Amino acid sequence: MCGIIGTLGHADVAQDLLEGLKRLEYRGYDSAGIATLYNGSIERRRAEGKLINLGKVIEKEPLQGDIGIGHTRWATHGVPSERNAHPHATDRVAVVHNGIIENFRELRRELESSGRIFGTDTDTEVIVQLIHHNLSQGLKPVDATSAALERLEGAFALAILFAEEQELMIGARRGSPLCIGWGQKEMSLGSDALALAGLSNRISYLEDGDWAVITRDGATVRNTHGELVERAIRTTALSEKQMSKGNYPHFMAKEIHEQPTVIGQTLNTFFNPLDRSISLPELPFNLLEIERITLIACGTSFYAAMIAKYWFEQIARISVDIDIASEFRYRGTPMAKGGLALFISQSGETADTLAALRFCRKQGQHIAGIVNVSESTIDREADIVFNTHAGPEIGVASTKAFTCQLVTLACIVIATARVRGAISREQEQELSSAITEVPARAAEILNHDDSLRQLSNVLAGARDVLFIGRGASYPIALEGALKLKEISYIHAEGFAAGELKHGPIALIDQSVPVIVIAPSDALFEKTASNVSEVVARGAQVIFLSDSKGIAALGDQAKESIELPTVHSFVAPILYALPVQILAYHTAVLKGTDIDQPRNLAKSVTVE
Ligand code: AGP
Repeated sequence: MCGIIGTLGHADVAQDLLEGLKRLEYRGYDSAGIATLYNGSIERRRAEGKLINLGKVIEKEPLQGDIGIGHTRWATHGVPSERNAHPHATDRVAVVHNGIIENFRELRRELESSGRIFGTDTDTEVIVQLIHHNLSQGLKPVDATSAALERLEGAFALAILFAEEQELMIGARRGSPLCIGWGQKEMSLGSDALALAGLSNRISYLEDGDWAVITRDGATVRNTHGELVERAIRTTALSEKQMSKGNYPHFMAKEIHEQPTVIGQTLNTFFNPLDRSISLPELPFNLLEIERITLIACGTSFYAAMIAKYWFEQIARISVDIDIASEFRYRGTPMAKGGLALFISQSGETADTLAALRFCRKQGQHIAGIVNVSESTIDREADIVFNTHAGPEIGVASTKAFTCQLVTLACIVIATARVRGAISREQEQELSSAITEVPARAAEILNHDDSLRQLSNVLAGARDVLFIGRGASYPIALEGALKLKEISYIHAEGFAAGELKHGPIALIDQSVPVIVIAPSDALFEKTASNVSEVVARGAQVIFLSDSKGIAALGDQAKESIELPTVHSFVAPILYALPVQILAYHTAVLKGTDIDQPRNLAKSVTVE
């Protein structure tokens, strides 16, 4: 998704803006630009493609000024091009925008009929033309902006500059995140705290509908009703180390290898080493009164929801509905009041998940969230939030956030089962011991990096790759397929192993690698039959299992990876690692842009 930054700083603001845009790259983009204000005129530099292209333009034609705005664009309306790159500007006003203005066509017609001439195909340009029109009607910048915001429909996070105001910037948000960075006589705006990390670690987060007038002395924030409001200033803990790749070639590699540590950090927020129990923070509802749980998410986070369904139903004995947010939000599901709706999101900003959350609140559900980004919109709108402690996840492909989501869900399941009397003390001890083993077992699996890297040669040459699994391994098959396709661009599909005979087995021939995810659990024998079926049709089977499973079936596989023998409860968490590593090394062989795969964004804040 687009990233925006604005700063009222010191001389050579252009360099600060460029650095800020580099910290926004992880959101995914296809063009970028900055604008500064100097001696009363707005100057822009924009470029299609990666920031290195913009850097070259700025090097050739430097920008002066101590106030400016910047943008990384993920194209929605208008092809990726310099012409359509933000900032969009007239001679009086410049804007950068994250979101979609849904009534832009109507506004464009109205403005063109009043004489405004448009130069781009973007929805964003109506914002800058509308403000310019209001200025030409004699309104001051603040009023011209306020009047324009009232006309806009859709989602936006904006940073706005005015040619006649050397010391003024305006920010506004509706549906897309925006925060303020506070400094000493230097102020900034950004899509998230990461963008501002080099400028300020004192951050306040605008609420939906807020808009802020920024000067060197600070910010005055008004809500959607025009009332002055205060937004808390928080000190972020983001460090340069967290935001650098360190000795790794990619953020994704670093984040895969951080998993033992961050899983342990996440676990520590639930696990009491004194009595080895799992406890939850105080809840705004009584788990004994919850009849039904609805789990909603997108992408990888949805696969965490799928796994949690097995756990809630098998261990806590509570019925669970799961759905992808983009479908759920329009389905109009009837929901008995008093249920629990749990939203899983790394970014906490996914538009579909947020819309589903708001639907469930209207349906009288208790709202809980599992998010990795504090102060994100879902974090702030849920009644109770379980923060995963994965740290900033910069790679577009989610890895450490996913396993931390699973650990969080596993702890919620154990605590729910105990409260509802669904498990004995001994069973609770057994599950708690299994979950506390995960960081150590994850570290062991990372030692398989070399053998998985060798295996990736089998995948790199494939046209199609299948992943299969049963039970809680089925969502890991889906996740493995998503990881592979999203970073290596190889077509991959995940199937419930029992579904192969209902059609997908027609895809099998000797050119198709089949990755089998099969810890030696209660469903192993069933999966073993499926392996025999695909081997009989020439498939190249890559077998992920433990020593017992490999002893039973390894001879049928082209290659096997022996993983630690673990409790079936935590197997899905640990089997996520080899499929992440396989996808990563395959993508390295394919030479793709692993941290920012084509067409993808880290946080999908548009529908
Ligand atoms: C994960 O590898 C993908 N990049 C994507 O599916 C992601 O999980 C999905 O967009 C949901 O994002 P969220 O967790 O931030 O809501």
